[in-house]
Amino acid sequence: PRTLGELAKKHHKYFGSATDNPEFTDAAYLKLLGSEFGQTTPGNAMKWYATEPERGVFDFTAADEVVAFAKAHRQKVRGHTLVWHSQLPAWLTERTWTADELRAVLKHHIQTVVRHYKGKVIHWDVVNEALNEDGTYRETLFYKTLGPGYIADALRWAHEADRHAKLYLNDYNVDGIGPKSDAYHALIKQLKADGVPVEGFGIQGHLALQYGFPADVRQNIQRFADLGVEVAITELDIRMNLPATQEKLATQATWYADYVRACLAVEKCVGITLWDYTDKYSWIPSVFPGEGAALPYDEDLRPKPAYHAIKAVL
Ligand code: XIL
Repeated sequence: PRTLGELAKKHHKYFGSATDNPEFTDAAYLKLLGSEFGQTTPGNAMKWYATEPERGVFDFTAADEVVAFAKAHRQKVRGHTLVWHSQLPAWLTERTWTADELRAVLKHHIQTVVRHYKGKVIHWDVVNEALNEDGTYRETLFYKTLGPGYIADALRWAHEADRHAKLYLNDYNVDGIGPKSDAYHALIKQLKADGVPVEGFGIQGHLALQYGFPADVRQNIQRFADLGVEVAITELDIRMNLPATQEKLATQATWYADYVRACLAVEKCVGITLWDYTDKYSWIPSVFPGEGAALPYDEDLRPKPAYHAIKAVL
């Protein structure tokens, strides 16, 4: 085995990359995406603005393109994401809803999307970024209108639509042990006690060199596994203040290796997804000005020290 995907498979895990439709015109990019990785996640194509641009009018064109690519290259697909406060269509955010109205809209959205991908998606990030840094509920449209019960409802509706897809809660800054991951641990414990079909915890893994490597990553993954859910590293990237130097790239490589090692150490950590694999298409520079160089391949699709470090661990 020579690819990251094949190497991870020896450990009964997948190693994948997110992708996005504009990148599908880049043949060299697609060649590596299809050969090196065993899993993909559509970076945007399954978000609400893309799948239900008008109320009750669904558009699966972009997401179907990603799923067809994955099938052609025998890759698993993670579905991302059904309920999130960001990248919502204007029709949903630019009016007020009663609880009954919004509940019906949410159920219809979730079940239409999940049914469309039934049997084609291994996991769903059912609710994305539901909590604040201090562990309280994020005051989203869904929380404010429906209360905290929207999370259990969303999981139950998704489960009705596809009983085989594993249902995840997914968030960032939950890599190590802290107030936010503590709150997820308590929430998942409660959901399971209530018989709600939550089966996975997604740790996005958006790290930055200037903030330090999170403490206790392996222990954190393990405590979720001990609750009886699986864990996936869903959006891994490690950004830095630009310019990238040899020294920063070397530190980044050790961080990638340490993160991958933490997942490998826990049986129920099922896989790792890069939030795209090349700096050419990373979301970081557009959202964090002055930062970048976050991925294991550079802008010319050449492997960086991080790539070799991951390979050495797998
Ligand atoms: C990002 C995409 O990569 C960008 O293209 C888009 O402009 C914004 O969203 N956490 C998530 C992902 O759960 O959906 C986000 O993806 C990155 C942060």
